[in-house]
Amino acid sequence: MQAPVVYPSKREGPLEPPAEFAVLRQGPPVWMVVPGRKPCWLVTRFEDARALLGDRRISSDDTRADYPQMAAVPPGLLSFLRMDDPRHGTIRRLLTPEFTVRRISALRTAIEDAADGLLDELAAGPRPVDLIAHYALPLPSLVICRLLGVPFEDHEFFQSRSAAIMSYDDPPEVGGRAMLELGDYLGRLIDAKTREPSDDMLGRVIAKAGADVSREDLVGIARLLIVAGHETTANMLGVSVLALLQHPDQLAALRADPTIIQNAVEELLRHQTIVQAAVARTATEDIDVGGVTIAAGDGVIVAVQSANRDETVAEDPDRLDLTRPPTRHLAFGHGAHQCLGQALARLELDIGLTRLFSRLPSLALAASHLPQARETAAVYGLHDLQVTW
Ligand code: HEM
Repeated sequence: MQAPVVYPSKREGPLEPPAEFAVLRQGPPVWMVVPGRKPCWLVTRFEDARALLGDRRISSDDTRADYPQMAAVPPGLLSFLRMDDPRHGTIRRLLTPEFTVRRISALRTAIEDAADGLLDELAAGPRPVDLIAHYALPLPSLVICRLLGVPFEDHEFFQSRSAAIMSYDDPPEVGGRAMLELGDYLGRLIDAKTREPSDDMLGRVIAKAGADVSREDLVGIARLLIVAGHETTANMLGVSVLALLQHPDQLAALRADPTIIQNAVEELLRHQTIVQAAVARTATEDIDVGGVTIAAGDGVIVAVQSANRDETVAEDPDRLDLTRPPTRHLAFGHGAHQCLGQALARLELDIGLTRLFSRLPSLALAASHLPQARETAAVYGLHDLQVTW
């Protein structure tokens, strides 16, 4: 086995994944050291990543002693994202009817109205303005609140707790405390909806849950949905806007033919894959991947942001090309845990970008603004994006 590598995290620019990934993709999975964490494997090539995520001999259970935990979150709190079958399947099946493409498509007008409301406020306010705080973050927050039946007035509370949960910088107590505070809040909401049933996603899930789904399970589900449901899309929307502003030829292509928006969203998801070291597994048996054997009990981080820049996914993969044919990208993961909210994320990105660039056609980065990147977090993104028009 070659000398261990350190997890690549330093980016040369806000839109480029760390350059070491391109070197690592020349070879099989490598053994990696992560400061303050257990050593584990790092998978960087597309075919290896896809094969491993589709393999049944892997576990997502973060309560296992051999699970390669990167986030500063105590084990056992991330609901079915960090469970294996059959429990994972039981909970996921409770939610899948809520996230079908058909069901999510029915939200189009509500999402358009939410985007327009935010853009009305933005257009009437001062500039430059931080697009993350005033658009990219509130849009998915509004949508997930309405969908779940969580009061949007409380968004500052749950946004600050989500940021603490996603960060890799703090000790586990900080993420753990944020988890518990968010859990207490959602527990009270679930009790209220149990007493007085409501016609929203949480209300329906509470009504449908069988005896094998406890109040604690419901709190975990609600917490996962609220965190996954706004942090990810918000960050993806932010980096997508920056990517389009920094690739004026691509923005012009989208403006010239707005019907390519769905293709554009897929390419942005591939090129700007925001999930960093969060796709983690433990091998439950020996598994051969790309020429190495990942032994039973070894941890693995699947670097989907690297896999999506592999030449087997797209020709000239570092080029952002909104008109390229569909790719098999892994931005939403692959296998049993593939993103449950992907139809919603796609619709929010489609509407979020379309409305923004049609309402503010002269949108540009504020002069000399260098956006601050969130490098050490489970989900990559920008702290701020100062724009004007
Ligand atoms: C799982 C990415 C938006 C809910 C995942 C996974 C990825 C991902 C990579 C797999 C993790 C793993 O295999 O360990 C994204 C991206 C998004 C996004 C890039 C936005 C651009 C959303 C939204 C929701 C959501 C809007 C919900 C409202 C979930 C849930 C899981 C998940 C519940 C766990 C599924 C399971 O374990 O079975 N997401 N996601 N995501 N996502 Fe998303």
